[in-house]
Amino acid sequence: MNTQERTFSIVKPDAVAAGNAGKVIQLLTDGGLRPVAMRMMHLTTAQAEGFYAVHRERPFFKDLVKFMTSGPVIVQVLEGENAVARNRELMGATDSKKAAPGTIRALYGTDIERNAAHGSDAAATAKDEIGFFFSGAELATLG
Ligand code: CMP
Repeated sequence: MNTQERTFSIVKPDAVAAGNAGKVIQLLTDGGLRPVAMRMMHLTTAQAEGFYAVHRERPFFKDLVKFMTSGPVIVQVLEGENAVARNRELMGATDSKKAAPGTIRALYGTDIERNAAHGSDAAATAKDEIGFFFSGAELATLG
């Protein structure tokens, strides 16, 4: 069965500012996820609020938006076998302090907010998140 799928990923401002973006992308690629679209951008408050709208009522929302707009990020679409689950496995637990050794969040994040990377939590979310940042014409076709 062909289980190739796509997911959405953000290398967050903490990882970019620390000069770890390349290492994060390498870990994802080595883990079987190939970027098919990628852009560096500095999110506006409106973009961060829109992207994380599902968390709008959470106590950490305001701080999260502040963090996500604190510096440039790299948004990307990743393709590979079971890409959504694989990306989450490579990132590790949301809280960098609890993430398994060797995972992206353990290596390059600090805590539950400054956690180096975002990844879609399900295939349906991935579709929405990819559409939030990329048009179809921006997605490469890999051989
Ligand atoms: P992410 O996978 O991008 O999805 C939502 C983000 O909110 C999460 O990573 C963290 O950066 C942040 N987050 C989640 N839970 C908390 C929390 N309890 N306190 C602060 N930030 C959080």
